[in-house]
Amino acid sequence: MAYILGIESSCDDTSAAILKSDQILANLIANQTIHRTYGGVVPELASRAHQQSIVPVVDAALKEAGLTVEDLNAIAFTRGPGLLGSLLVGASFAKSMSLALDIPLIEVNHLDGHILSHFIKENDESPVPEFPHLCLLISGGHTQIVLVKNPFDTEIIGQTIDDAAGEAFDKSAKIMNLGYPGGPVIDRLAKDGNPNAFVFAEPKISGYDYSFSGLKTSILYSIRDHLKQDSEFIEKNKNDLCASIQHTIVKILMQKLCLAAKDLNIKTVTIGGGVSANSAMRSAMIETGKKLGWTTFIPPFQYTTDNAAMIAIAGYFKYLNQEFCKLDAIPFARA
Ligand code: KG4
Ligand code: ZN
Repeated sequence: MAYILGIESSCDDTSAAILKSDQILANLIANQTIHRTYGGVVPELASRAHQQSIVPVVDAALKEAGLTVEDLNAIAFTRGPGLLGSLLVGASFAKSMSLALDIPLIEVNHLDGHILSHFIKENDESPVPEFPHLCLLISGGHTQIVLVKNPFDTEIIGQTIDDAAGEAFDKSAKIMNLGYPGGPVIDRLAKDGNPNAFVFAEPKISGYDYSFSGLKTSILYSIRDHLKQDSEFIEKNKNDLCASIQHTIVKILMQKLCLAAKDLNIKTVTIGGGVSANSAMRSAMIETGKKLGWTTFIPPFQYTTDNAAMIAIAGYFKYLNQEFCKLDAIPFARA
């Protein structure tokens, strides 16, 4: 048994979580709302907000878990990819704590965290995916189909050649002036819309790779043309536009995932990352899974967008392997 503290600070969420081995005791996230004013994450502001939040968030996580720092057995932190200034805050904090408490430090790749989030257990009975399985990792920065052979042997078999799925949501929302981040807004407005009201261009790209930049252009031109006829077009068709955009993104994501699962003959399929919070994406996974006989794993909402519990579970796997890192581990911005 080990108590692992996880720290995540790669973008605009400051998060601390505590696991008792693979079971969750606390997972707290301080969201930075300041970026909404600017329509996107401002790195310098993110880094400053992390500095303000990190101590209270870790303290609150320990309290929620009913532990003190002396109980901790290891500290796992996100080393990258992400915003350097943001990563530095979490990394420096984790290093100081590991040094002060004389306990091991574990570096975690943010993407491994999303992929391994399915192994966080609420209790002993929680089912977990078997190996190998396929994970569709869909976030604001990445879109990948990953063959997961074991916790740390993963192979990217397809990925986006331009925008990530989360960016497709965010950029579409920006075109419609719906605010940032756009994914959750589109999801909400789409609930009262017709997914077949508008048709947008779908990419024609071979293999398991994705592309979303053509879709963005198609949405932009279509809306621009309609606005020439009716200046209130967006306002009048907001729900239908969101439902149609969401439907198209989910369709594109599912097509390649199904192809990969079929070709590799893999029936355990998971999704992870911020876009796995999307309600249409979750329904598509359940329906497709039933039709194709998959065992599907869809993360609970608190483990979809960035969170420290996923860093702690990835850290726990490394803890079992005694894979610790030195104090001079430098954060990295790109995968
Ligand atoms: O994994 P994440 O929190 O951060 C990265 O690692 O990038 O993902 C953030 C992305 C954003 O693009 C956001 O718009 C999207 O996830 N997102 C959603 C939803 N919730 C978050 N996209 C669609 N529907 C949602 N409900
Ligand atoms: Zn993420």
